Amino acid sequence: MEILLDTANIEQIKKYVDLYEITGVTSNPTIISREHAEFWPLLTEIKKIIGDRQLHVQVTGETWEEMVKEAECIQAKLGKETYIKVPTTEQGICAMKHLKATGSHVTATAVYTTQQAMMAASVGADYVAPYFNRMNNLNVDSRKVIGDMVQLFRIHNKPTKILAASFKNTEQVMDAFTVGAQAVTVSVDLLTTMVENAIIDFAVENFKKDWIKTYGDKKIYEL
Ligand code: E4P
Repeated sequence: MEILLDTANIEQIKKYVDLYEITGVTSNPTIISREHAEFWPLLTEIKKIIGDRQLHVQVTGETWEEMVKEAECIQAKLGKETYIKVPTTEQGICAMKHLKATGSHVTATAVYTTQQAMMAASVGADYVAPYFNRMNNLNVDSRKVIGDMVQLFRIHNKPTKILAASFKNTEQVMDAFTVGAQAVTVSVDLLTTMVENAIIDFAVENFKKDWIKTYGDKKIYEL
């Protein structure tokens, strides 16, 4: 069960990468543009903060040749181990094939259908990233589509993992994990919401009151 942060915000990454068990950080051109920062310094800083954890960076080229060239540049600046996010289009699949032939890590992104996932897995993508909320917006049953991908990869012994993305609420995240996605990438807002609830605070507050009644403000290590 892998959790990645879907952000390029330095402060958020700094805070959450150590607070929780985080597998890595994902970005896309939209996420990067929100930071209004220089591209390479921003990614270099993210890489420095996350260390050995995964960094997924998306290419923007239109042809497979451009995508591969961008990928090589990303790897030269950020490390060969960087996951190259490639949109799952015709040109994207061809780029993935070339990148896998040179031992690159590949994440197939902009995935809306099971057939896209199948095409990406056929060229050896390490992850496919189905867009949960965007599928829902198209009246597509995201749970079923992701469940089908899980089944498809299992039947055909494909090592490709499902990195579900594009979430708007925690129910969608839990649905993705429940139907078998191995990984999710989520915003910090959603991650925080996972353990934020007035009823949890109420329970913790009651434990605290009962403790203070008996032991005052002493901590366990002070007794
Ligand atoms: C993952 O990396 C995707 O690009 C991202 O989760 C898309 O999210 P959105 O649908 O909220 O833009």
